[in-house]
Amino acid sequence: MQGKSSKISGFYKLSIDQRIDSLKTFSNLTDDEIRILKTNGSLDIDLADHLIENVVTTLEIPMGVATNFLINGKDYLIPMAVEEPSVVAACSHAAKLARDSGGFSSYSTDPVMIGQIQVTGLESMHGAKVEILKNREKILELANTRSNTLRNLGAGARDIEIRVFERPFPMLVLHLLVDVRDAMGANVVNSMCEYIAPLIEEISGGKVNLRILSNLTTYRMSYSKAIFSKESLGGEEVVDRIVSAFEFAFQDPYRATTHNKGIMNGIDSVLLATLNDWRAVEAGAHAFAAISSSYTSLTKYEKTASGDLAVSIEIPLAVGTVGGSTGTVPKAKIARKILNVDGSTEFANVLAAVGLAQNFAAVKALATEGIQRGHMELHARNLAVGAGASGSLIDEVVKTMLEEKNISMSRAKELVGKALKKTNK
Ligand code: MEV
Repeated sequence: MQGKSSKISGFYKLSIDQRIDSLKTFSNLTDDEIRILKTNGSLDIDLADHLIENVVTTLEIPMGVATNFLINGKDYLIPMAVEEPSVVAACSHAAKLARDSGGFSSYSTDPVMIGQIQVTGLESMHGAKVEILKNREKILELANTRSNTLRNLGAGARDIEIRVFERPFPMLVLHLLVDVRDAMGANVVNSMCEYIAPLIEEISGGKVNLRILSNLTTYRMSYSKAIFSKESLGGEEVVDRIVSAFEFAFQDPYRATTHNKGIMNGIDSVLLATLNDWRAVEAGAHAFAAISSSYTSLTKYEKTASGDLAVSIEIPLAVGTVGGSTGTVPKAKIARKILNVDGSTEFANVLAAVGLAQNFAAVKALATEGIQRGHMELHARNLAVGAGASGSLIDEVVKTMLEEKNISMSRAKELVGKALKKTNK
């Protein structure tokens, strides 16, 4: 909600009920939505049985909320569903540091998807290219009969482009460029491609084989940037170490893969919470990372003239706020309400910022103390809770286990048992 701050200090220290109370205020959740959030297994098994095949049960994974995000001047709480400890905490921490220098500034292109039509058996591929281009208007008009909704929005099929592959297997590939507005767009693009295929055969004299969207959505790109002050990072030397860590990812595909995995930790968690197709975004992100000569980092790090750290990201993001399963599963609907984005472009802007934040948090940790300490602290916290600690006892048990460097369930149980005996006396 505008006017409300996502900088909720100590959010992690609140009980689950208290966190939900904060969400209720921030996101105007109804009593029914609160009830659903508090219900484990809220996905009805009959609904699940209609979503996919051979259903036997449903799977719950933790959904948390990242705080502190300020993107293009608007405050966001970010729902994240993920099984890995540290992800939500690290993302919130990065957003807090970015916020101190004005937050994230994001931009996304129009939501233009690419549909591919593979044409084979052509006598002259370059001749067929000319014929297809001459019929551009007719092809676009026919494609646009597949979606009145997009047509009424002034969107839909916008253009075509032709790619010719001579060897080893000669083929012509037509790209249908479709502005899908707030949908992810797979359905409408695939329908259009299938529908215009006979016309393409007629015009080209060839045979159409595949008709399918591409997940390498180079016309549906998102960009985000943020500044992290050298003071907040602990000085210029840390900035240098972080930039050097980036150079490692920029130049070495082995490191770039892990570096980009860190970006996707954040993006995938939001996609999962809102039930978007994270496999599509994953495929597109990694393919884009390899689009020039070698697989490389999706983020860029630079030291500014004043010695601060400037981080940016450039990533294809095909995500929808309408259609697919985004509106069928109750908790995913609530996650979208919490996210409070008005359409797919704003959603992509948020995701780009989340990817940047997640990556920055990991690289900063790696370039300084390493990631294991933070991981161990969260692991210790999970153990303390699992051993029956609550409230301030959690912190006490965690502190002792970290000091003793003995982080185990048996030690957590011992400490909790001792503390509870003391209070019961
Ligand atoms: C772990 O899930 C992600 C990291 O490996 C990312 C990175 O190395 O940049 C920490």
